Amino acid sequence: MSAPAHGDVARPNHLGSMPLYVDLRRIYNELAEAGVGAGDALPPERLFPFDQIHYRGTDAVRTAAETLRLSPSSRVLEIGAGLGGPARFLAHTTGCHVTAVDVQEPMHAVACDLTARCGLASRVTHVHGDALTAALPDAGFDAVVSWLAIHHMPDRPRLFSRIARALRPNGQVYIEDLCQRAPFSAADLVDVREMLHATTLTGAEAFERDLRAAGVKEVGLTDMTGDWAAFCAERAAAWQAARDRHVRVHGAETYARLERFFLAVRRLFEGGSLGGLRIVARL
Ligand SMILES: C[S@@+](CC[C@H](N)C(=O)[O-])C[C@H]1O[C@@H](n2cnc3c(N)ncnc32)[C@H](O)[C@@H]1O
Repeated sequence: MSAPAHGDVARPNHLGSMPLYVDLRRIYNELAEAGVGAGDALPPERLFPFDQIHYRGTDAVRTAAETLRLSPSSRVLEIGAGLGGPARFLAHTTGCHVTAVDVQEPMHAVACDLTARCGLASRVTHVHGDALTAALPDAGFDAVVSWLAIHHMPDRPRLFSRIARALRPNGQVYIEDLCQRAPFSAADLVDVREMLHATTLTGAEAFERDLRAAGVKEVGLTDMTGDWAAFCAERAAAWQAARDRHVRVHGAETYARLERFFLAVRRLFEGGSLGGLRIVARL
């Protein structure tokens, strides 16, 4: 069974039931473990080990900041901002202003809390909304960034035309997302639906085609598959090696849910059907 060249791979359950998103208390558990109390002020660095929901953590976001040459005058839109980790990292390290959009209300609420406690609310504006419909200013941004969010969205052409409209002329695009490298088996499709909650998972060419159709040019693609496969293997092994610690901090149910998730994603990468892309482009 293979996924269509473009469009729906699967119709996922409610996004909030994705294993990575179920227990958002995890970040507070980690802070408590580090001796940080509820409501305490937080240096952003304290959060960085826990608030990045993509591959290679802040290293990946630092590469984006350098590639985009972000500065305090840069206005950045982040699509699918999660807990706000990348947005806070960009604002904290470059001084840029970030508008961080996420569709999940609980995720948005945690992101707002963490950003306020880091003292970054004047530079990171969290918006609760669907990137396919939320109000965005025309030509309002110098750069649009996104990590591991676009595969969740059912209408990529619409998203890309909205991104193009939100960018100023010559504005930049920096995306990291999943792609499909080979037909998915029946077992793969179950994990793509139940674990990844992917609705749009295509080959790199279709991804690029959608961007170009929206008027985005100078599209540069980097295949991240090998690097992300290694990361996912290390992540699963590290999670299992620290089982007792994670069960104590997060509880047995959360431990087991994430173990299933990390193993499934590792399997998908190792099987060769799932891949990763970094896309750098310009309007
Ligand atoms: C894997 S997380 C990545 C979060 C963040 N980019 C990071 O790297 O830490 C993907 C995020 O995309 C968000 N998302 C999914 N569909 C969305 C949509 N249509 N509009 C806005 N956000 C969306 C999810 O709620 C989730 O927080």
